[in-house]
Amino acid sequence: MPTIVRLDRHRKDFALDVTAFYRQELTKLKGVHYSPEQIRTSLAIRVLPYFQELARQGNRKVTPQNSVTRVHLVLEGEQLIGVRETTDYVMDQDGEAMGLSRHLVWLLAEPKGRGTGTLLLDDMIQNADGVDALVLSVAGKNRRAKKLYSSKGFEYCLTFKGDSNYLSPMLTFVLPITDLGRRTLLRERKSAKLSV
Ligand SMILES: CC(C)(COP(=O)(O)OP(=O)(O)OC[C@H]1O[C@@H](n2cnc3c(N)ncnc32)[C@H](O)[C@@H]1OP(=O)(O)O)[C@@H](O)C(=O)NCCC(=O)NCCS
Repeated sequence: MPTIVRLDRHRKDFALDVTAFYRQELTKLKGVHYSPEQIRTSLAIRVLPYFQELARQGNRKVTPQNSVTRVHLVLEGEQLIGVRETTDYVMDQDGEAMGLSRHLVWLLAEPKGRGTGTLLLDDMIQNADGVDALVLSVAGKNRRAKKLYSSKGFEYCLTFKGDSNYLSPMLTFVLPITDLGRRTLLRERKSAKLSV
């Protein structure tokens, strides 16, 4: 039975495996859902010192914008078969704090179709204490991920077209957890429609 663990001080040796896992899995998506430029940008920060630092800080990396990044691993024995990277941030609208959102940055599983992605997503939903909404972005062409997210109750919110470097527009999906999360989803959806 696979287990979900934090990339923390006790597992700092996994930083190397995580770096290799990202490189392997993101490279597979090059030209499929993401342009070479998008993959390059994403991999440029996910280097060994990045994950080592995250582990050293106890699976907590604070950005200058005060968002907090965490990485969770799925292990089968000692083998890494899945990674989930999330960032927590406070949405701020006109200076008013609108609640804490947990943004799913990357969900990666290998081999595919064995339930690892579902396991990571279910765990994220079950552990959404203190969070108003779970948010994720997915490439419009990524049918497998979109199907998985919708089946877990994530709702379409808006489309981000990106620039000429984007291979496909990015769709934002939201799973509201609290009333504030639901209100924020409705407001974001409305303002996205108005700006079309
Ligand atoms: C998206 C991803 C994380 C899903 O993980 P996974 O472990 O393969 O997913 P699961 O085995 O839990 O399956 C979840 C759903 O995915 C879909 N799926 C899984 N394998 C599939 C396959 N071979 N073909 C088509 N759909 C498939 C199904 O909808 C499945 O639901 P089901 O249980 O009703 O069949 C994984 O495919 C992946 O790493 N993809 C590359 C990276 C990526 O696209 N990440 C998401 C962007 S952030």
